[in-house]
Amino acid sequence: MIRKNPMKRILVTGGTGYIGSHTAVALLEAGLEVVLLDNLSNSYRWVADRVVQISGRQVQFAEVDLINREQLHGFFGRQEPFDGVIHFAALKAVGESVENPLLYYRNNIGGLMNLLEAMQLSGSGNLVFSSSCTVYGNPEQVPVDEACPLQPAMSPYGNTKRIAEEMIRDQVQVGKLRAVALRYFNPVGAHPSALLGELPMGIPNNLMPFIAQTAIGIRERLLVFGNDYPTPDGTAIRDYIHITDLADAHVKAIHRLLSVESPEPWEIFNLGTGKGYSVLEMINAFETVNGVKVPWQYAPRRQGDIPAIWANPAKAQQLLGWKATRNLTDMVASAWKWQMALQNR
Ligand code: NAD
Ligand code: UFG
Repeated sequence: MIRKNPMKRILVTGGTGYIGSHTAVALLEAGLEVVLLDNLSNSYRWVADRVVQISGRQVQFAEVDLINREQLHGFFGRQEPFDGVIHFAALKAVGESVENPLLYYRNNIGGLMNLLEAMQLSGSGNLVFSSSCTVYGNPEQVPVDEACPLQPAMSPYGNTKRIAEEMIRDQVQVGKLRAVALRYFNPVGAHPSALLGELPMGIPNNLMPFIAQTAIGIRERLLVFGNDYPTPDGTAIRDYIHITDLADAHVKAIHRLLSVESPEPWEIFNLGTGKGYSVLEMINAFETVNGVKVPWQYAPRRQGDIPAIWANPAKAQQLLGWKATRNLTDMVASAWKWQMALQNR
């Protein structure tokens, strides 16, 4: 049975980031208390104010760097043990990780190590971890379920996700922790209020923010990486998932960890819609739904990209009681609304 104690306190690391901020709103709306932690390396302090504005609830924000062990232990020392921790804080630019692998291992692996240690010392024993479908590499079959074999990582970033899952599993095995890893497919879109969304710094790496910035004129044209993939239109296929659906899944995962009868101390769930769209389908949907043009041209394949992946999300539906409900129209409409709100800031 799920305990619905409104005073359960959840620490959200990376809480002013894209997924963390949307999840904070969902947690607050579900009656949980939220503490946001971030070093602001890829986000802004005002995002926490927006979380307060949307939810109408008070939120504590702590500027802490997870790789600063002393600072992190000081932070945990001043807090009551958390009922749960959702760990989003990480660097996530695939290309940058190839150029500077040690930065990624230090931040993503070192940060997790410090966090697990601080949780153990403080008696905070429930963790939800942000993993990624990159752990499946280029899968032999689609859709992929959680039992699909993992492949060697295509980048140091991807490798940090794989190593992190193993570190958490080992910590669970010695009885110090109960944890859920959520393997996200491709999160896109923004909060319906357009007060929160993705804030790529510099030139976006990801498709949706690049499409939105091209539509508004910040970028001249989108490069479509590869038109010779073995897919119906030759462009690569991904499972795009609306950010608010993704956020809701974290609430379900925390509730499962906090529920007395949660059966397994270590569980992994795919978070996707179960449907794949090609790059061209994404561009067409964005143009049609929003009534805008997105100039684009073909370019060679991007190194490290795979032809196609989408999720089998059945396990999340069965055990978390979660299913993505927002469709492609919701995704591209909210992404455009957010881009326009950013422009008018
Ligand atoms: P994001 O960059 O918007 O958020 C991450 C936040 O973590 C940022 O606010 C950043 O300032 C913070 N951070 C980074 N290192 C930190 C540190 N050492 N100490 C404290 N804070 C730190 O990214 P996001 O898209 O919200 O991603 C959240 C998580 O989800 C990441 O772990 C990412 O790898 C994972 N993920 C993201 C995607 C995606 O496409 N967005 C897909 C799969 C997995
Ligand atoms: N793409 C383009 N042009 C662009 C950007 C992307 O054609 O300017 C294409 C890519 O080649 C790919 C698709 O759009 O085929 C999606 O690319 P993204 O960069 O948006 O997403 P990826 O699937 O490459 O990877 C993303 C995140 C990873 C994460 C992974 C799975 O970047 O961090 O989703 O969640 F691990």
